[in-house]
Amino acid sequence: MSYQHLPKLDLHCHLDGAVRPETLVALAAEAGLSWPPDAASRCRVAATCRSLPEFLKTFEFFLPALGSRAGLRRAALELCRDMKADGVIYFEARFSPTLWVDAGFAPEEAVEGALEGLRKGEAETGVKSGLILCGIRNFPPERTLVAAKLAYKYRDRGVVGLDIAGDERSPLAAHREGFAEARKLGVPITIHAGEAGPASNVREALEFGATRIGHGVHVVEDPAVLAEAVKRGATFEMCLTSNLMTHSVDQMANHPFAQFLRDGVRVTLNTDDPGVQGSTLTQDFERAEKELGLGKPELKRAVLHAVDAAFASESTRASLRARIEEGWR
Ligand code: ADE
Ligand code: ZN
Repeated sequence: MSYQHLPKLDLHCHLDGAVRPETLVALAAEAGLSWPPDAASRCRVAATCRSLPEFLKTFEFFLPALGSRAGLRRAALELCRDMKADGVIYFEARFSPTLWVDAGFAPEEAVEGALEGLRKGEAETGVKSGLILCGIRNFPPERTLVAAKLAYKYRDRGVVGLDIAGDERSPLAAHREGFAEARKLGVPITIHAGEAGPASNVREALEFGATRIGHGVHVVEDPAVLAEAVKRGATFEMCLTSNLMTHSVDQMANHPFAQFLRDGVRVTLNTDDPGVQGSTLTQDFERAEKELGLGKPELKRAVLHAVDAAFASESTRASLRARIEEGWR
């Protein structure tokens, strides 16, 4: 069946990884960057990609084009339109506002550009959203602290949480201060862990205060960590297409999503980087049905897990829950 017109949530979507390639090409031209003729295809992950570090290389190519207030505003607005077309009624977009500090583009400007786009997008499409700010594991830890402080500063203007993304070979421990600050200020925390790295990274993320884990597929390798995550009521933000592209799982049949869902683990289905992957959330729902054998009642449960875990007010979650119940009847 098609899941496109069923109401869905996307809690794990990178704003920079969601930009349409043609928009990046246009932004590069506006910025006066001289991009090669094959630039649009270089904004997508190559079919030969075999690892998370290789996957992340794609971002290095196009990120210079996105480093402006107008660029982030446009990216966020178009993301609302793309989500609307895909049947998404609420999403949380994330990005690192400190990516362009060396180029002189201020983190506050980046946050404000993204928020302006999300606000305009909600007014136009009715799609609700929140913004999560990220540190990057393999970047200076001071930037994670900057992201934590900005998440607090902009908490009443649409920023809903703190994350850390990037190369999982770089230790989370270096970013302790940023997450301590977030916990102190009451900023909700999600952390990429157990994607390309081991189950112990998931334990560490829980200890850092994460109530949601980005991916976490490798948690299956340590039942004690999985039990700890379940005991704490943590939610896993899983992304099927992304996990295949980064080879976090070797084949879909080995993805833990279906088993987790059947075992009552709080799992959700998300895009990760729809622009870079050339994928949609609907495609991942259809993959879950065709390749993992999940049916509509089970997938509805995953959407309701996302409602429960959304970094949104109880009244927003109640209204999302009602719309899911109505739409998936
Ligand atoms: N940045 C964008 N996509 C990512 C992923 N899947 N893991 C870590 N960092 C990311
Ligand atoms: Zn991610």
